[in-house]
Amino acid sequence: ITAEKAGFDHFMLKEIYEQPKAYRDTMGSRIDESGTKVVLNEVKMTAEQVKSIQQVHIIACGTAYHAGLVGKSIIEKLARIPVETDVASEYRYRSPIITPNTLVIVVSQSGETADTLAALREAKRCGARVVAITNVVGSSVAREADDVIVTWAGPEIAVASTKAYTSQLIAFYLFGLYLAQTLGSQEAEYIASVVSELKELPAKVEQILEQGEAFKDWAEQVASHNNLFFIGRGLDYAVALEGSLKLKEISYIHSEAYPAGELKHGTLALIEEGVPVIALAIQDDLFEKTVSNIKEVKARGAYVFGLHAEGETELVKAVDQVFSIPHTLPLLSPALSVVPLQLLAYYASLARGNDVDKPRNLAKSVTVE
Ligand code: G6P
Repeated sequence: ITAEKAGFDHFMLKEIYEQPKAYRDTMGSRIDESGTKVVLNEVKMTAEQVKSIQQVHIIACGTAYHAGLVGKSIIEKLARIPVETDVASEYRYRSPIITPNTLVIVVSQSGETADTLAALREAKRCGARVVAITNVVGSSVAREADDVIVTWAGPEIAVASTKAYTSQLIAFYLFGLYLAQTLGSQEAEYIASVVSELKELPAKVEQILEQGEAFKDWAEQVASHNNLFFIGRGLDYAVALEGSLKLKEISYIHSEAYPAGELKHGTLALIEEGVPVIALAIQDDLFEKTVSNIKEVKARGAYVFGLHAEGETELVKAVDQVFSIPHTLPLLSPALSVVPLQLLAYYASLARGNDVDKPRNLAKSVTVE
């Protein structure tokens, strides 16, 4: 068993450290030699079919759903097509408006999740084209979709998903760029700049992983609490949702992810002396707004851990402890900012003596409704 874990204590930690490789493998030959554009040969849509897309529905469960929330921002920003992201078990039963001009993207690590598969079938019945983002080549979802973008994360054993999630993000970047290239919705120069930053991500994840120990100390502080909040705006909020889920799944510490500006509309009442708040302040354009929300929780006694991009010194003054991640384009930042949160969840689970790889009541793949 130890051999399978390649010297790591748990599969989860091994899989967290495999992310640079998973990013590189998922990008692989999908970036052309000039390094300025994306080549997605596995997507068989004609340019005409791409141009006829009027809306995109992203459907998934659990962590894959959180990747889909980031996917919505990616596609809307790059391709300028409206996108809705739904949990599969909700989508199926809400009579979604699916037309032949709807592109449905299903996201599933295993490719076997019952609700996701049923949503895929419903979409096909309504005449939509279905693209699958999955980690398992011969899975049911892969077999039934029209186009399949495989995430080359390799087998994921730990129940809490890490490298599959980040590889799904990479797949969304590639697909968003592919749509933008086909639609001409972005300048070639801009596309080239995103591709070039994308290629830098694996090395930047390596930099974060090198400071692994820093997150251990942070997790030990968090592990003694029973309640905490994650706050952020925009993509930082999407990542906060995943960070909160990860922590709940394996440490059993209750947490809530909140859009930073929404706290004052209710939940601020739960912030009292010493409550830990993990604040993501990575999105440049929303930085000032997030800092003002941090001040609101600080004023009520919260103990704030801030996460920001390197070089941003303003946050240091506003929070109690700060962690920085390497700088990248705001659109690409989820692929970096989630990594410290994965390590936080891992070390918090460890500190509490839980079974990290096999959390209670959860299964790796849910093949029944
Ligand atoms: C289960 C797992 C989650 C996973 C979800 C969706 O609930 O515990 O980690 O995100 O299923 O799985 P899928 O294989 O469809 O991505």
